[in-house]
Amino acid sequence: MSPSSDALAPLRRRLRAVESTASTMDDAKAWAREGAPTGAVAWALEQRAGRGRWQRGWSSPRGGLWFSYVWRVEFRPRAGVWELVPHAAGVAIADALERETRLPVRLKWPNDVLVDEKKIGGVLVEAVAAAESFAVVGVGVNANFGLDALGGELRLPATTLRLETHRDWSLEPLLASCVASLDNGFAWLVSNPAMVLAAYRSKCVTLGRRVEVDMGDRAVEGVALEVADDGSLVVETAAGPVKVLAGECRHLT
Ligand code: BTN
Repeated sequence: MSPSSDALAPLRRRLRAVESTASTMDDAKAWAREGAPTGAVAWALEQRAGRGRWQRGWSSPRGGLWFSYVWRVEFRPRAGVWELVPHAAGVAIADALERETRLPVRLKWPNDVLVDEKKIGGVLVEAVAAAESFAVVGVGVNANFGLDALGGELRLPATTLRLETHRDWSLEPLLASCVASLDNGFAWLVSNPAMVLAAYRSKCVTLGRRVEVDMGDRAVEGVALEVADDGSLVVETAAGPVKVLAGECRHLT
């Protein structure tokens, strides 16, 4: 597929676009191993085996925005930078979608992309061994379809751009905007992680809510107190504060 929109002109040399693939995560990883530059983007109109966080499948029908972005670490990043890659990516995508659509886009910890408490998109970061020093950041945005296209059982209340705005969106400008936002977000992450965290905290609607966080081997319930400097979620439980580094969070209130 050769993308023709002017919106993608600035990306042309770092974009590989296909009609259909198993997962853009694998395409981006393979390309990174062949030497793709930082900011390289693998984009597909549909994925046959899209994946989400926690080894879940991710429905990726035509009409959605499905891509993966390569972030190459050219040096050993300062302490605190690597942990915040998922947060920086979440902020970047929320900013881009808000800029393009004018919808109020917020984040559920760590990086579910929400509109009006419903999941409109997600971010999956797969960090690759330090020896290769790159991360692949996968982004999925439910755009031009209704919920029936997602099939199966939806875990969370979900939504799509079509449902929220009563119109369809051209994917090329959305992609260009998301990629520009990721470029900026990662540049800021390296130079000023505190600023990225501040932006993250201001968009994260988990703070102050009663939550249940499933960490795989155990779950905690309590009030989400803060997002710590390393991106973890501090939950005030009946037994005291618990710091959650990674988990699946559910808002109970
Ligand atoms: C989540 O579980 O919320 C993260 C979903 C990430 C989905 C995107 S779609 C593009 C990229 N390719 C994949 O297989 N997954 C990510």
